[in-house]
Amino acid sequence: MKLNDIKKITCIGAGLIGSGWATSFLLNGYDVVLYDIKEELLELSKKRIINNLSIFIDKNIITRAESEEMIARAQYTTDLETAVRDAHFIQESGPENYGIKQSVLKDIEKFTDRSTVIASSTSGLLITEIAKYAEHPERCLGAHPYNPPHLIPLVEMSKGEKTSQEVVDLAYGFYKKIGKEPIVLQKEALGFIANRLQAVLYREIVDLVLRGVCSVEDADKACLFGPGLRYGIMGPNMIFHLGGGEQGIKGMMQNLAIPAFALWLPDVAKWEKIPEEWPDIAQKGVNEAMAKRDPYSGNTTEEIAKFRDDMLISLLKLHKKL
Ligand SMILES: NC(=O)c1ccc[n+]([C@@H]2O[C@H](COP(=O)([O-])OP(=O)(O)OC[C@H]3O[C@@H](n4cnc5c(N)ncnc54)[C@H](O)[C@@H]3O)[C@@H](O)[C@H]2O)c1
Repeated sequence: MKLNDIKKITCIGAGLIGSGWATSFLLNGYDVVLYDIKEELLELSKKRIINNLSIFIDKNIITRAESEEMIARAQYTTDLETAVRDAHFIQESGPENYGIKQSVLKDIEKFTDRSTVIASSTSGLLITEIAKYAEHPERCLGAHPYNPPHLIPLVEMSKGEKTSQEVVDLAYGFYKKIGKEPIVLQKEALGFIANRLQAVLYREIVDLVLRGVCSVEDADKACLFGPGLRYGIMGPNMIFHLGGGEQGIKGMMQNLAIPAFALWLPDVAKWEKIPEEWPDIAQKGVNEAMAKRDPYSGNTTEEIAKFRDDMLISLLKLHKKL
């Protein structure tokens, strides 16, 4: 299969991520079929896609007529064979569970041509394991999006032991074509890259709050108004490079990071399981922070999600990604 042969895409699992992917594919001119196990979930997906597209209308990126044409290009079904039969590219976004992903893959293979690419949105499972029972594991790969997938460009691609390089190259070209920023892991890693980074940062936030160093709200402020603003512009290596002035990142490491980290790192969290009491503490802290937010940035979950999407679009425009 060649890049230009990809015309019809199927999203398996039409939840939050499947609907987001579908939005991206529709925005880029593809025909999309969404499959889920119940009609009501497909109805919800339809609403999600309409809502996702409305953000692009509000920001004058697409017109209402264009959105209607995109919505008309989406089909919905609870019949797997109908969903995948003529698909050129399948984006699987079912539940994050090896058993379910393995059995969905086996079922998909009954109805598809072996040239159809099957990409899994898994947040961190190994593609080798997901494709363990596949008849054609060479066409299976991991392609982890970041939520919301219709706005965040990153796609972390992961090759299983049997994935062919040809399939990786094809999928890479495809994601590039729809405006994504794909990266290919050089070897499989649980949690890929971004979720591992997120996990260690978040572990430290939990630890600092539980140790009484800061509140949930202040931990978020420390991220957002400090490193977070910079991370929205460039990555940590480039930031350190600028921080090193004339001496660049090498000088920054030698003069500052090596001695400072040696002092701090023995004191940071090392546990491996989020403490049981944390979900309640986190929810209480977030509820308090929501009530205190400036109304400009939203006080309800819906308002805050809208604020996030508005800001993301502004940032993406500055990055020339929209
Ligand atoms: N939520 C996130 O932030 C996020 C980000 C990146 C990747 N992911 C990954 O994307 C995948 C989907 O996550 P989500 O947040 O959209 O979950 P979700 O629960 O919103 O959606 C999963 C959908 O899969 C459907 N489903 C259940 N059994 C199925 C089956 N046998 N075949 C096909 N579909 C089935 C469910 O009905 C549901 O609609 C997971 O692998 C997850 O790890 C999630």
